[in-house]
Amino acid sequence: MSTVKEKLIENLIGEEKISQSKITIVGTGAVGMACAICILLKDLADELALVDVAVDKLKGETMDLQHGSLFFNTPKITSGKDYSVSANSKLVIVTAGARQQEGESRLALVQRNVNIMKSIIPTIVHHSPDCKMLIVSNPVDILTYVVWKLSGLPATRVIGSGCNLDSARFRYLIGEKLGVHPTSCHGWIIGEHGDSSVPLWSGVNVAGVALKSLDPKLGTDSDKDQWKNIHKQVIERAYMD
Ligand SMILES: NC(=O)c1ccc[n+]([C@@H]2O[C@H](COP(=O)([O-])OP(=O)(O)OC[C@H]3O[C@@H](n4cnc5c(N)ncnc54)[C@H](O)[C@@H]3O)[C@@H](O)[C@H]2O)c1
Repeated sequence: MSTVKEKLIENLIGEEKISQSKITIVGTGAVGMACAICILLKDLADELALVDVAVDKLKGETMDLQHGSLFFNTPKITSGKDYSVSANSKLVIVTAGARQQEGESRLALVQRNVNIMKSIIPTIVHHSPDCKMLIVSNPVDILTYVVWKLSGLPATRVIGSGCNLDSARFRYLIGEKLGVHPTSCHGWIIGEHGDSSVPLWSGVNVAGVALKSLDPKLGTDSDKDQWKNIHKQVIERAYMD
């Protein structure tokens, strides 16, 4: 007796398809799930896999995404505690680990999160030897170096999120001060992500107009608009997350 599925669909090729642009997210906390939603809404993957040690939360988050499939084009969303679900990933995003507690610096997380990297990175590479890795867990610059060493991958395949968030916050706050949308406000923060980051005031421009050309003291102590407070806020905002 044939099932409805068998009557409806005749498979001309085998059902098992190998994904071409699979992305795995390790750590399904606040950051991991924000990455998941962005990947799905931007159609970046043909398969999304989620891995976490907190299995109940992982199951709930996965079901939420799967049940939202009507609004996404990614055909396959899987998850598990076992890294076999991550096999054959093109990109693995690592957001697993402890986050800062109130008043705790990113650097204070280092030992806890290095231990986590030691326990997960070799297994990730075992299942996806051709992947690129994007490291987000903090302290991100140190962990990116640690992951590069642990993974044995070429340096070009282990990327840290660096000061991308700092620069995005910087551009938002510049826009807020000027009443201009951040897409028209340009500027970079460089160095180590977090407290010791460095704003490049000479490069700050709005639609190509360098703010330093309007006030050569921009970002210094003698700047009467106190633009340097914007960088201070970029640093402080991380402690409000
Ligand atoms: N680089 C950046 O710009 C940036 C920005 C924000 C947060 N972060 C960092 O990202 C990390 C995650 O932040 P969050 O707010 O999502 O934290 P969170 O506490 O919400 O989530 C962390 C997740 O990691 C999981 N986890 C812990 N150990 C694990 C392991 N061994 N294997 C798999 N999963 C594990 C936890 O179960 C949890 O779900 C933190 O280290 C945080 O400091 C970095």
